[in-house]
Amino acid sequence: MTVQELMEEAKKAREKAYVPYSHFKVGAALETKDGQIIHGCNVENASYGLSNCAERSAFFSALSQGYKPQDFLRLAIVGDTVEGCSPCGACRQVIFELGGENFPVALGNLHGIIQETTSTELLPGAFGPKDL
Ligand code: THU
Repeated sequence: MTVQELMEEAKKAREKAYVPYSHFKVGAALETKDGQIIHGCNVENASYGLSNCAERSAFFSALSQGYKPQDFLRLAIVGDTVEGCSPCGACRQVIFELGGENFPVALGNLHGIIQETTSTELLPGAFGPKDL
């Protein structure tokens, strides 16, 4: 799958967002090595701090389905942003843990921007599984 096609999947995931508080929808699409696409969206809560981001929703959904950390090819993220939608710090940590080092991540917006980066560029010097 091309990065553009994966970004289109992230846009579909974004439409499922539950965002009654921020009204800021984010979508994520995680491509697996066995050819599946797993969607993630942000899911908010009246107790705001319990809200879950789209990127973490995608990875947690994948592991809940039985996928393992080495099973993924790439993550695409999209939001209604000026530049590509940038993952928060907590999501960067989870992307590094479950995607691994140098894991490809595409940051997109609704107007066709796609910025290609990696888990390691997003979180240089990350604390990860090897540090324990
Ligand atoms: N959000 C994400 O889902 N991913 C990001 O990369 C940035 C922020 C969500 C959290 C919250 O539901 C809303 O966007 C506003 O912060």
